[in-house]
Amino acid sequence: MSTASRFKARPSTNHFISLTIDGQSVLAKPGDSVAAAMLAYSGDAMRHTVKGSPRAAYCMMGVCFDCLVEVDGYPNTQACMVQVKEGMVIRRQQGLRKLKKEPTGGE
Ligand code: FES
Repeated sequence: MSTASRFKARPSTNHFISLTIDGQSVLAKPGDSVAAAMLAYSGDAMRHTVKGSPRAAYCMMGVCFDCLVEVDGYPNTQACMVQVKEGMVIRRQQGLRKLKKEPTGGE
């Protein structure tokens, strides 16, 4: 039986994508998911449930819904299913969120 990993590291790059997580500037690699970028940034909870329990990415494949975050004003976005984009604004969710995009600005 081969001991070689089925997983391969992506090639290193000098190109990074700039985005913000809860107002903090963060650099991520092109092709990273939002969840991967958030885990690399802090490893902290991505959201808190209504009762205040912390949740973070678990399955990384769109099944568990523990990675819900707000992306560019759109709540309840699965962070593991979205790739980072330049200028993306990501916010951790606290408790219940509305189903539609919330107005931005004037906070
Ligand atoms: S980590 Fe499970 S749905 Fe995103």
